[in-house]
Amino acid sequence: MDKKEYLAEYQKHEDMRKRVKMDKNRLHFHIMPPTGWMNDPNGLCEFNGVNHIYFQYTPFLAGWGEKLWGHYTTKDWINYTQEEPFLFPDTKWDRDGVYSGSAFVEEDGIHYFYTGNVKLTDKDYDYIMNGREQNTIHIFSRDGKNIEYKKIVMTNDDYPADMSKHVRDPKIYKVNDGYYMVQGGRNSDSRGCVLLFYSKDLNNWEWYDTVYSEEPFGYMWECPDLFEIEGQQILVCCPQGVEQKGYDYQNIYQCGYFPVTFDIENKSYKFGEFEELDKGFDIYATQTFVDEQGRRILIGWMGIPDADYDNDVTVEYDWIHALTMPRELSWKDGKIYQKPLKEMEQLRKNSFSSELSEFSDWSPKDCCFEMRVDIEDSGNIELKLREDVTVSWDGNLFTLELGESGHGRKKRVAQLSSLSDFTVFSDTSSIEIFINGGETVMTSRVYSESLEQKVTLLSKGIKGSITGYELGTFIVERGEC
Ligand code: FRU
Repeated sequence: MDKKEYLAEYQKHEDMRKRVKMDKNRLHFHIMPPTGWMNDPNGLCEFNGVNHIYFQYTPFLAGWGEKLWGHYTTKDWINYTQEEPFLFPDTKWDRDGVYSGSAFVEEDGIHYFYTGNVKLTDKDYDYIMNGREQNTIHIFSRDGKNIEYKKIVMTNDDYPADMSKHVRDPKIYKVNDGYYMVQGGRNSDSRGCVLLFYSKDLNNWEWYDTVYSEEPFGYMWECPDLFEIEGQQILVCCPQGVEQKGYDYQNIYQCGYFPVTFDIENKSYKFGEFEELDKGFDIYATQTFVDEQGRRILIGWMGIPDADYDNDVTVEYDWIHALTMPRELSWKDGKIYQKPLKEMEQLRKNSFSSELSEFSDWSPKDCCFEMRVDIEDSGNIELKLREDVTVSWDGNLFTLELGESGHGRKKRVAQLSSLSDFTVFSDTSSIEIFINGGETVMTSRVYSESLEQKVTLLSKGIKGSITGYELGTFIVERGEC
């Protein structure tokens, strides 16, 4: 679909836009698709005071289909503009989808690298070891909206011969004057890895090395992100094919990070232990960027590929999936901590606060809230949120349990050594829980019958305090779409 075809289709789908607006589950403070399907955040960056949030987008179908890059911009993380889609599958290198990619800001503009997906149809293929082109494409823009050029920089022939046809999702990592590109890969023995490519000038690229964790960890690593935070190198990736182990890896595919020591120039790579970024049901394909204030910000897809979303109630209203809140990252005691961007505080309205010993329930007037619980001596606690969601801590396990509103998804558990606090952000159809100052996070979609948002304390005799705010709504303007 090129831009002309998109614009013609757009005219025909006023009905979709109307249906989306009728849905009570439409999110108030999360980015969701204007219509249709959304997956990975792409090309995250801030340029001249404007934050750009692009995303995998199938505008006219609330299901898996041909991907464009949708686009929102924001200066303050509260007021957003829905821009015209940025990238279309309009060349022979990306004709079956402009897949995920990232942005790299230089002084004069933004360089983007993404995967052009091509599926061959001339004969029968397995689309793993054959039948697929994954082209690496470079585009440049001076404003994040208009594309000055689009160039193919690598094809399957530029990837090592021992790779399957799954090599994708480029992100740039600069070392001294050289640019390294990390891409996710599945090798011909179905082992997940990252590939490194090198360029002196962002235009000419060549394969540099293929990097494996010491022990095999799944068959494919998607959406890698290599960066440094407070002196620690981190490799985020989304491994597929990792078996559940106790309370680890409870979802179909994983999203997490290895603390690493990569001396890339000397080709020496050391991996620490893989840590999940989130223990909820709906998290995948996170991407980070550094904003103009120097903060490392992470946004993820509140969804997972191939998970069972058949009964997602939003499909009836012609949309599906959303992005997480933007989260600021920090590095403490050998772990990534996540906390919602401070700007989210602008949404706070009426507040309440109470000692836990005097608290029984709270009914936020508007339907969304933020609520923080501080616990003394890591005491056990059980709370009911919304219609049928329970959150509990028994001295060892922090459990999120969804009733009917989970639509088949029941329980996620995080094992912790202690609990000092947790903060819940509850939107119309999502919850995000930041535990122990963001040491552990749980993100899930949840679809209540009513928009009931009452909080009830089920356990008695706990020492601590509870504070809550009703939350307002993002303002989204429609730009030139
Ligand atoms: C991750 C992913 C990426 C790919 C994109 C396609 O969710 O599968 O690897 O580039 O989605 O939409």
